[in-house]
Amino acid sequence: MAGFVFLLMCAIILIGCGAHARVVEHTFNVGNLKVRKLCHSRVITAVNKKLPGPTIKAHEGDTVVVHVVNDSPHNITIHWHGIFQQLTAWADGPNFITQCPIVPGNSYTYRFNITGQEGTLWWHAHASFLRATVYGAIIIRPRAGTKAYPFPKPHKEFPIILGEWWNADVVEVENEALQSGGLPNNSDAFTINGRPGDLIRCSNKHTYKIEVVEGETYLLRIVNAALNNQLFFKVAGHTLNVVAVDASYTAPYTTDIVVIAPGQTVDALMVANAPSARYYMAASAYISSPNVTFDNTTTTGIVHYKSTALTSAPPVKPMMPAFNDTPAAHKFYTSLTSPVRLGSPAVPLHIDEHMFITFGLGLAPCSAGQPKCQGMAASANMNNVSFVFPTKMSLLEAHLKGANGVYTKDFPDRPPTVFDYTNTSINTDPTLASLPFAEKGTKVKKLKYNSTVEVVLQNTAILTIENHPIHLHGFNFYVLAQGFGNYDSSTAVKSYNLVHPLVRNTVSVPTGGWAVIRFKADNPGVWIMHCHLDVHLPLGLAMAFEVENGPTLSSTLPPPPPDFPRC
Ligand code: C2O
Repeated sequence: MAGFVFLLMCAIILIGCGAHARVVEHTFNVGNLKVRKLCHSRVITAVNKKLPGPTIKAHEGDTVVVHVVNDSPHNITIHWHGIFQQLTAWADGPNFITQCPIVPGNSYTYRFNITGQEGTLWWHAHASFLRATVYGAIIIRPRAGTKAYPFPKPHKEFPIILGEWWNADVVEVENEALQSGGLPNNSDAFTINGRPGDLIRCSNKHTYKIEVVEGETYLLRIVNAALNNQLFFKVAGHTLNVVAVDASYTAPYTTDIVVIAPGQTVDALMVANAPSARYYMAASAYISSPNVTFDNTTTTGIVHYKSTALTSAPPVKPMMPAFNDTPAAHKFYTSLTSPVRLGSPAVPLHIDEHMFITFGLGLAPCSAGQPKCQGMAASANMNNVSFVFPTKMSLLEAHLKGANGVYTKDFPDRPPTVFDYTNTSINTDPTLASLPFAEKGTKVKKLKYNSTVEVVLQNTAILTIENHPIHLHGFNFYVLAQGFGNYDSSTAVKSYNLVHPLVRNTVSVPTGGWAVIRFKADNPGVWIMHCHLDVHLPLGLAMAFEVENGPTLSSTLPPPPPDFPRC
């Protein structure tokens, strides 16, 4: 609190506080908005009547204050995806993890600092499928007056927020799936900044356009806000130079294709050095499972060179990769590293907690809450625990109060049985018929303050292999290594990048493969780690870390703010 008051005073006085920290304040009115897309009219839930919602522009070191007013008919929470929330876990936002929802007619003010991260993040609803239309960008520029980007200052920058659009009401789409125990219907289109683009029916006028000047450099701040699809992104005729992901700088990486999973961001420079013309930017799905149906549409926007007459030829189209081009996705994901910098924080080498977490889909017998379910329902788990969200009190509040009966502290460090995790023949082996059935539970893994945690994330072939984007709240992690098949420490450890590994908050674990992440638990609170495909989150593809307080006041989670939503 004292820190906050200090920052507030800095903002008011605007001098003498050295760091030029400001307060960035917004009011988010969440409410109904009538829109027409793909020849369908629909009422969506949106912030300030905009899709995407407002962009939060801040500098590193700023304090962000957002008053969320819920005028919608739905329970809502907002999550500030990738923001560390150091000592402000109450503002993190996942429904029933750090807070109870803001019920219709109520409001809650989220307050947090942005410290030690620069680039692009985003915010989104973290309750049911509402984030399909409740999302926006967070742009974090270097602290004013102290330093600049570690790359030449771009002429201009454009947020490129990729989204996913359903003609049906998304809350109904989700409820229908949950009640039947099946998977939800696929979306009808993808969008760029809320617009499907002119390859989609009725969308000629709903095409995002940018104008560029020959020879200038542009910064594209790409966010994947889609619910259930990883996306390939390309700009015809142009290469992209990736300089940051998840608000963490990377060594520059030149590519003609970006692959981005829900939850992730990519900052890329684009030089307008192609012959003067119009070019499509485009995004289409990357599908990593051989066993799913999907939205196979392509969303487009237009890059228009200023000197090109509007009446000229149609925009140049990029060649998109095949939907199942796992080699292209893997090349992109594994080519990124953090910059080699003197004095950059070293990867912690001493590990306090070694975890091996298997994850993927499974099955469960139909339950009472699934009136339309026949036989078996879809399920998902981590280490054979299918995560169940609390309904009476958030995990964080239960943690603060020491309340009993909300969660247990026995999330396992390894799966209960060892099997040939990624061998698809496990699905036809009668002796392994029980593998898809996981225990249901609300289990957390308790961590000592400042302990170092290494997690091997191992995808399984139970039902199907699939690339799942695993997102950790409250922390960035190092991505030390990734590979296909079963993790084998005898070969994997040698491949760890301990010098300049990529730092991010959401890792796309290779389909039928594994990834190794490491982080320091220096932020007290309860932090969910989950699959960022929204189809898998309610099925239980999640777990949570409970990080204890440290020894000092500055490492102790303060109590919740007075307007904290109660159940
Ligand atoms: Cu982007 Cu748990 O969220």
